[in-house]
Amino acid sequence: MDLKLNNKVIIVSGGSSGIGEGIVNSLLEEGAIPVIIDIAEPKNKDLCFVFTELVNPNACQNAINAIVAKHGRIDGLVNNAGFNDTVNFENGNYEAFMKSLQTNLVHYYVLAHFALPHLIKSKGNIVNVSSKTAETGQGGTSAYAAANGGRNALTREWAVELLKYGIRVNSVIVAECFTPMYEKWIQKQENPSEKLKSIQSKIPLGQRFTTPKEIAQTVSFLLSEVSSHTTGQLVHVDGGYVHLDRAL
Ligand SMILES: NC(=O)c1ccc[n+]([C@@H]2O[C@H](COP(=O)([O-])OP(=O)(O)OC[C@H]3O[C@@H](n4cnc5c(N)ncnc54)[C@H](O)[C@@H]3O)[C@@H](O)[C@H]2O)c1
Repeated sequence: MDLKLNNKVIIVSGGSSGIGEGIVNSLLEEGAIPVIIDIAEPKNKDLCFVFTELVNPNACQNAINAIVAKHGRIDGLVNNAGFNDTVNFENGNYEAFMKSLQTNLVHYYVLAHFALPHLIKSKGNIVNVSSKTAETGQGGTSAYAAANGGRNALTREWAVELLKYGIRVNSVIVAECFTPMYEKWIQKQENPSEKLKSIQSKIPLGQRFTTPKEIAQTVSFLLSEVSSHTTGQLVHVDGGYVHLDRAL
């Protein structure tokens, strides 16, 4: 299927690693021009990259300006950067909670806000990457779960507000995808290799992790015209993890 993303300029926040890197690779395969916004440089130095600390709104504005100055347009935005920082409920605190919302939620709004005038011009779409923690809970990660609830709510809210421009907004919800972030999280668990086995055994489809490529292909589909009547959706690419029967 031709997704017709050829030469489309698509911003991917957090595109240097894990799921974001997978999205960038999928966009390259489709002939698009992915532009990475990240604090870490991508491994492939030929890619378009704008160093940006996303918790700084001025840096977000500068990144959008730089991308438009270089490419003349923005055809899509993938909000993806974030980090499961395990800011705890019982033992957490106000400062850590607020910082986590900055790291995981606020820049989704800020980047989309600055990109919007350009998306209106191109009728470009938005995809927000989000986590099952908003729906299932995880324990020990209040701010991250709240941020993901916010990502899902903004998806619905923007889908409504942007109907008048024909801009579509969707979320791809991830449950268990083995990435550098996931690796760091698993290493903090009591018995990492046992925990890994136990998690995989509970993933209904194939008892395996979702790959970044599988998430990326759905993101590319949602960015493309091929999904022209899909908006405000929370699409779970999770091997049935969130919705299928627990007794499986
Ligand atoms: N891996 C999973 O199983 C999983 C599950 C649910 C949701 N997610 C979501 O997927 C997204 C990507 O996660 P991942 O597992 O690929 O993580 P990752 O750590 O492998 O990649 C995240 C990228 O975002 C960048 N980044 C993070 N904070 C940034 C900031 N403040 N400014 C600029 N760049 C920043 C990092 O440098 C990194 O390149 C996250 O938003 C996460 O909530 C992942």
